[in-house]
Amino acid sequence: MSSLPLYSSWLLASASASGSALANLSTVAYLLAGVLFVLSLGGLSAQDSARRGNLLGTIGMLIAVGITTVVGAGGYGPLGAALLGGGLIGAVLAARVAMTSMPELVAILHSFVGLAAVLVGIASYLDPGELLSPVEARIHEVEIFVGVFIGAITFTGSLIAFGKLRGQIRSKPLLLPGRHYLNLAMLAVTVFLGMRFVGAPTLAAQNELLIMTGLAGVLGIHLVMAIGGADMPVVVSMLNSYSGWAAAAAGFMLNNDLLIITGALVGSSGAILSYIMCRAMNRSIANVIFGGFGADEGAAPAKRDKDGKDGKDQKVQSVTAADTADLMREAKSVIVVPGYGMAVAHAQYPLYEVAQILRSRGCSVRFAIHPVAGRLPGHMNVLLAEAKVPYDIVLEMDEINADFPETDVVLVIGANDIVNPGALDDAASPIYGMPVLEVWKAKTCVVMKRSMASGYAGVENPLFFHPATRMLFGDAKKNVDAILDALRQKNSQPPAE
Ligand code: TAP
Repeated sequence: MSSLPLYSSWLLASASASGSALANLSTVAYLLAGVLFVLSLGGLSAQDSARRGNLLGTIGMLIAVGITTVVGAGGYGPLGAALLGGGLIGAVLAARVAMTSMPELVAILHSFVGLAAVLVGIASYLDPGELLSPVEARIHEVEIFVGVFIGAITFTGSLIAFGKLRGQIRSKPLLLPGRHYLNLAMLAVTVFLGMRFVGAPTLAAQNELLIMTGLAGVLGIHLVMAIGGADMPVVVSMLNSYSGWAAAAAGFMLNNDLLIITGALVGSSGAILSYIMCRAMNRSIANVIFGGFGADEGAAPAKRDKDGKDGKDQKVQSVTAADTADLMREAKSVIVVPGYGMAVAHAQYPLYEVAQILRSRGCSVRFAIHPVAGRLPGHMNVLLAEAKVPYDIVLEMDEINADFPETDVVLVIGANDIVNPGALDDAASPIYGMPVLEVWKAKTCVVMKRSMASGYAGVENPLFFHPATRMLFGDAKKNVDAILDALRQKNSQPPAE
């Protein structure tokens, strides 16, 4: 009797045993990675645990990539090349990118996720891999259609957001006549195509899928083109959320639990962040998504001479770094308001030394953080943490806004839109309704910037002409260095008799 059948059945049994062992291993590894991602998000929610959160996320991702590589037996060559190439490009980009360009990088990365979801969806339609029952096939088609739709919107929308943040596409909203009807029409055609796609005989509905992909791409472009510069922070965060849902949809298509978990985590945390930012800017999410706000660019900043005169009777009062140092030496309470200009100038390091000198003289020094200061959520917190500013003197807008009237000196460093009083009382302003730091209520407010130029939203700032305001023109780093020198010199002088 031949032993061949016996041997082959043993081989089959051992292969299926090792296959099921691998499957079990991958389930456990995916679960572990999922738990690490949740713990990572928890860690990232507070500054002092953010490093740990980052580390946990990195370990989770290493486990996920490692186990996916092992389980996805075969094709190691192309997979290795993709991992190596992608890893290298990612590492070089991350090492090179300036903190101020981070939002652009984030936007382009979102577009990759969107594109991946589109490609996975189309590939999984063309080659479903395994035989599916009719019901499973219908569910799979819905997954494909929805995944490709979200992916295509995320892809093109993120490309437009990238262009706008980089200044390659003008930030002025593109408001086509009847744009909401146009969006609705595109949605209606998508639903119609979806109904033809789901349930069509295998591979017979390629055209429906491809036409919908193109249409969703146009919808993504149109949606983001219609949004004004002032709302871009929320848009980036919304696209982050979309990219998560696109990844979750890809997870359903590929039957990959970890991708579903990760996508859902990114999707929901992005949605929550968008909601929090909308509340901070007093916007409604629907209006941001459909381009209702930020639609007008507001009045163009008036032309001024170098003294800040605009031909009307408004005039700014300038101050020198030495005078600012004197003001601060005499102050009992100082609040520092950092903005995008501090990031550009890298002024956080000498700024902290200034704070330390003042604190050693018994002055109360605190930092006030607006939720959309800078160019990405938490931008200022990261920079101040980098300069070793203690967390307990860094306060959120809600915690500190009521304290300005009792404050002797406010130092606004490279901030503009977030301290614009027009947001509270100028209904024509594109940032009208956004809560701002009410710095003009302090006894003296020193504003450090290089010129009378407007900020990100492109609106004039009446703060510069307020009687309590003194303008300290010049690069923020140079001026903070000069203030620091003046403070050190005065500190080293013997007290006057
Ligand atoms: P901005 O309104 O952008 O104002 C920054 C100011 O810094 C500018 O007016 C500029 O004036 C000054 N500046 C630039 N370089 C400087 C330097 N080297 N030294 C001194 N000053 C310098 O910043 P903000 O007040 O932080 O507000 C943030 C804005 O960005 C908001 O409109 C927000 O909606 C938007 N945004 C935020 C995010 C997030 S999530 N945070 C993302 C995208 C957009 P000069 O040119 O005269 O120096």
